Amino acid sequence: ELPSVFDGSIDLGIIGGTGLYKLDCLKPIAVLPPVQTPWGTTSSPITISKFVGNESFHVAFIARHGLHHEYPPTRVPFRANMAALKNLACKAVLSFSAVGSLQEHIKPRDFVLPQQIIDRTKGIRQSSYFNDEGLVGHVGFGNPFSQKFAEFIYKFKDTLTNIDTNEPCTLHYDSDLTVICMEGPQFSTRAESKMYRSFGGDVINMSVIPEAKLARECELPYQMICMSTDYDAWRDNEEPVTVETVVGHLSNNGHNANVLASKIINEMANKLPEFMLNGDGLKGSIKMSISTR
Ligand code: ADE
Repeated sequence: ELPSVFDGSIDLGIIGGTGLYKLDCLKPIAVLPPVQTPWGTTSSPITISKFVGNESFHVAFIARHGLHHEYPPTRVPFRANMAALKNLACKAVLSFSAVGSLQEHIKPRDFVLPQQIIDRTKGIRQSSYFNDEGLVGHVGFGNPFSQKFAEFIYKFKDTLTNIDTNEPCTLHYDSDLTVICMEGPQFSTRAESKMYRSFGGDVINMSVIPEAKLARECELPYQMICMSTDYDAWRDNEEPVTVETVVGHLSNNGHNANVLASKIINEMANKLPEFMLNGDGLKGSIKMSISTR
């Protein structure tokens, strides 16, 4: 039985996506029951862990869709999840998400570090902490991810493998890699999938919005690691994506997520990167984003 409270300080917040509910390099020391916030209750308990390689480094982990995958993308309590991580004083948030690929060269089981987002959700998710009358805030979102964080992760590009063939998998990164976020839960039609390609989309998921927006409103450096599971629906001579295709790649992606996370955390624990120490230029940005009369 682990304690249900923790009063130390947390270095990194991690949000696990479909198929990723824990990380092997982390040793749990406390489990906070689903945390109640003014924006609802988090989608899962928050596991507080030490890094096995350096016990002074602490991580808080939330399962985005719940421990039993009970929250569909539209219903994930994104605001509660991000507020809870902010409240634990995380210095950055690393997020994982299964994605479909909109580009031939991004193969299933490859990983992607996007730097741009196109929001195709339907406006039914609570996407801001500034929705109430009397408080008007407009944060900058031109660069929705932390480039410093992405570059920190990209150093470990040679760690991904296909566990069935032993071939390497690619970690894709450049400054205009774009993730499309759709509402779901249905996958795209072929026509939509082709339209997203014409928009310049590289991968597609159902979760990066509003997560990235809320991280920005919380002044938290944020990067998503996208784990490719399928070619969506744009390839004319192939069957459109099915749940079976996605599930078929989840365990390989889980393996690579574990290897990559352990490298990332090991390096952070050795020496906290600048973007975690200085807030990546976001500290105080909210103050400047509130419009007053
Ligand atoms: N998540 C995994 N594959 C996806 C796809 N093809 N479209 C949207 N979200 C996804």
